Amino acid sequence: MIKRILKIVLIVIVVIFVGMQAIRPTLSNPPVDELQTINGRTQMTPQVAAILDRSCRDCHSNKTVWPWYTQIAPVSWWLSNHVNDGRRNLNLSEWGKLASDRQDRKLRQMCDEVQDGAMPLSSYLPMHPTAKLSDQDKKVLCDWTDAERQRLTSPPK
Ligand code: HEC
Repeated sequence: MIKRILKIVLIVIVVIFVGMQAIRPTLSNPPVDELQTINGRTQMTPQVAAILDRSCRDCHSNKTVWPWYTQIAPVSWWLSNHVNDGRRNLNLSEWGKLASDRQDRKLRQMCDEVQDGAMPLSSYLPMHPTAKLSDQDKKVLCDWTDAERQRLTSPPK
């Protein structure tokens, strides 16, 4: 009896799981114009570029790497929401579209979020252990955002 019930429960779970796969969010990467990226629009350093690339790019750019498990529902639903949300808040690939006062605010937020430990999102770290930032990384990023904000507000010489 118990065995029969377990079998039915298992079949129902499998059917639901397979059915869920029919709902596929678009896991897409919009095209990138390199001249509009944060790398193209700022005095980017190799160190900062590397930090952004390994810790922020997947959620805050149009160059998201989508590993195989991101294609499987319900993970795919959850991650597509995450990335859309991340891009809406900060898109490093479309940096040039922001007015300079918005760039200034985003630079400040980038440093703040990282210093508070809010970014990169903790849910990202188990699958991406190298994204974790050391105190040294945070300092490098914040020194750079400070310098970049100075450049935004001081007139070009
Ligand atoms: C796993 C995805 C993910 C990663 C990795 C990630 N972020 Fe985010 N980030 C988000 C999401 C989702 C939001 C929007 C919701 C929120 O604020 O929590 C966000 C919001 C932000 C914001 C806007 C905050 C605000 O108040 O508007 C900044 C700035 C930011 N992230 C910076 C970074 C930086 C810098 C990194 C890399 C060091 C990073 N994030 C890594 C997902 C991510």
